[in-house]
Amino acid sequence: MVKYRIAVAARKGGVGKTSISCGIASILSTLGKRVLLIDLDPQSNAAYALGVDPTAPGTAEFLTGQNPVPLSAASGLDVLPGGPNLTSQQIQSLHPEDLADAIEALNYDAVLFDCPPGNESLERLGIVAANIALVITNAHPFAIMGADRVMGILEDYRSKGRRGPQQWSIVMSQVDERRAMDKQLPSQLFEMYSDVHNFTIHQDVNVAQAGAQQSPLMEYAPKSRAAQELTEIVDWLSQVD
Ligand SMILES: Nc1ncnc2c1ncn2[C@@H]1O[C@H](COP(=O)(O)OP(=O)(O)O)[C@@H](O)[C@H]1O
Ligand SMILES: [Mg+2]
Repeated sequence: MVKYRIAVAARKGGVGKTSISCGIASILSTLGKRVLLIDLDPQSNAAYALGVDPTAPGTAEFLTGQNPVPLSAASGLDVLPGGPNLTSQQIQSLHPEDLADAIEALNYDAVLFDCPPGNESLERLGIVAANIALVITNAHPFAIMGADRVMGILEDYRSKGRRGPQQWSIVMSQVDERRAMDKQLPSQLFEMYSDVHNFTIHQDVNVAQAGAQQSPLMEYAPKSRAAQELTEIVDWLSQVD
């Protein structure tokens, strides 16, 4: 059984799920962990951001039992790309536990699920397969609504004793305190969810540039503010049992 199964979900697009998934995967791999990033997004941004072929067979093929070979993005860091095949009828009609079952035989220390925006059934595959979740939002009410929905699902599954994360934290992403909403909304949200651990990732140009340059964050900018802030999340993940 893979020890760390981490769903990165938000419901809203553009809030930093892929950047955070790739950054955490990069940090874990530099700590000597064997990491697999499973991209559940038809847009297939994660493989691109990590410098491997985003059109190669990946998560859709894995879910349909075709045993695609994960792509190696860095030492200890493998990726199963997303892609448009994830929207096929066959994938959309999978049982919510199918991904959870499929990863049981994998030999990794950590698997991250980069969940898609909007698509509830793909997001659910990732959530059900995870034992930890990071719920991502930025300081905008639309994103907070999305995060709130994801946390509702997590609460619901946990209270019913279903498979899925037992623990999660909120990650406030892309924060720039020069903006009025970024000054006010994070503390309001953290107060509302005072029982949930929270993290802040500031706006950092290195994150956007690492993705555009197709380089894992710990290769592109290992000393950046984002790398330091993401390391705090990795420290928290390491303490989760
Ligand atoms: N902390 C950050 N600082 C700067 N740019 C960021 C940060 N997080 C994400 N971005 C940029 O914002 C955009 C959306 O991020 P992405 O990770 O693709 O979000 P999602 O996966 O939620 O759609 C990308 O262009 C990415 O480079
Ligand atoms: Mg994404």
